[in-house]
Amino acid sequence: MIAVRELQQRRAALVKAMSSDSSTSVAVIPAAREVVRSNDTHFPFRQDSDFWYLTGIAEPDAVLVIQSGQSGQGGKSGEPPRSTLFVLPKDPTAEIWHGRRLGVEKAKAIAGVTQCFTLEELPEQLPALLDGFEHLYLAQQDNLWIEPQVKVAMAALRSGRRQGKRAPRTVNDLNPLVHEQRLIKSPAEIALMKQACMISAQGMSRAMNFVEPEQFEYQVAAELHHEFVMHGASGPAYGTICGSGENACILHYTENSSRMTAGDLLLIDAGAEYAGYAGDISRTFPVNGRFSPSQRKLYQVVLAAHEAALAELKPGATLPAAYRAAVRVLTEGMVKLGILRGEVDSLIQDMAFRPYFMHGLGHWLGLDVHDVGEYQQDGKPRPLQPGMVLTIEPGLYIPADADVPESYRGLGIRIEDDILITETGFENLTAMVPKSIEGIEALMARGKASARGAKPVEAN
Ligand code: GLY
Ligand code: MN
Ligand code: MN
Repeated sequence: MIAVRELQQRRAALVKAMSSDSSTSVAVIPAAREVVRSNDTHFPFRQDSDFWYLTGIAEPDAVLVIQSGQSGQGGKSGEPPRSTLFVLPKDPTAEIWHGRRLGVEKAKAIAGVTQCFTLEELPEQLPALLDGFEHLYLAQQDNLWIEPQVKVAMAALRSGRRQGKRAPRTVNDLNPLVHEQRLIKSPAEIALMKQACMISAQGMSRAMNFVEPEQFEYQVAAELHHEFVMHGASGPAYGTICGSGENACILHYTENSSRMTAGDLLLIDAGAEYAGYAGDISRTFPVNGRFSPSQRKLYQVVLAAHEAALAELKPGATLPAAYRAAVRVLTEGMVKLGILRGEVDSLIQDMAFRPYFMHGLGHWLGLDVHDVGEYQQDGKPRPLQPGMVLTIEPGLYIPADADVPESYRGLGIRIEDDILITETGFENLTAMVPKSIEGIEALMARGKASARGAKPVEAN
């Protein structure tokens, strides 16, 4: 878990970003709320990523207020930030029914905030916490549940002008500031992300071991989820994709309802969530454990594109440069296999690969699987920096009715790894799951052997 000291440093860094012009600012950050699943049951609770990042508190309904100086009129910049947390009150009856609550003492200690109150005190406290600050920072997004309460507090301050009250003059978007911070991972975050990636990799390897013809895709998903949770993950970080045969060509296929057939490829895209951080791995492998000749050829093209993209990654490089490297290899490969016809440079120019590779090369990874942070800076692709974590996930998806050699029709292949940018290059956090054809076939053969109870052949 993240140390109190680091949580405090994150809030201090946020205050610094809010007060860059030496004005005074206050931020209001709400936790996530429970979401009804049906009637009186709820979806499993998932904390808001920004709130989790700034507090380490996993409870619903809470509110964090961060001030750039002392509360009350005339908050001054340069003073240490004051953080105030509001949490659900202790309530023996509610806790018997719905689970334990931290209460103010424990929440204050976990988050390391200046002060902590129960949520019942929020309506009275909020105007005082906003009073006298020049700028208010609030996430600018639809249906922010705290917004009506903030508006009431602002109105109270405006109507109290004659009593010397002063509402913030501007309302600014908090998101870009927190999201910029989240883009660069600290050593403690990297340790947690390595754990999320390790567990994700174990799940993927287990799935490769398990898969046999005639099983259902959802049974493979169950194997993955079992492995995730058995290693301390809260569950999958996003909807697990287990797409066999033509289902692999549906990018976000999560029905996982088909029976798998010998001769099909299975595309799995799955990751565990650990301490809030996501893993995100894709592997594609044959249901019967052996690639057919045409599956092998198409797979090699995607793998070579994946390797070409990885070779671009280092501080100062950009994601679009890696995308271009991957696109060149994909296009060259498709020409060799007769899927595209023409000259490579003009095919790239005309984006002839697009019907078969229609998504981006990768995305930031962190507390959200598609993590936050800008991809451009000053209108240009942003240079990679040590501490960034991103995915590299080229793919080829050949529709069943495509005008290409028949043996490639209906194949969908994606190979995705999670990459940490380091001072000298990169570290592949999911390299432990095989992705070479030989590596995959060997792992699957071992799985089949152990399922039959066969003893490994001993070397003489
Ligand atoms: N699992 C979604 C993605 O790879 O982006
Ligand atoms: Mn993925
Ligand atoms: Mn991804």
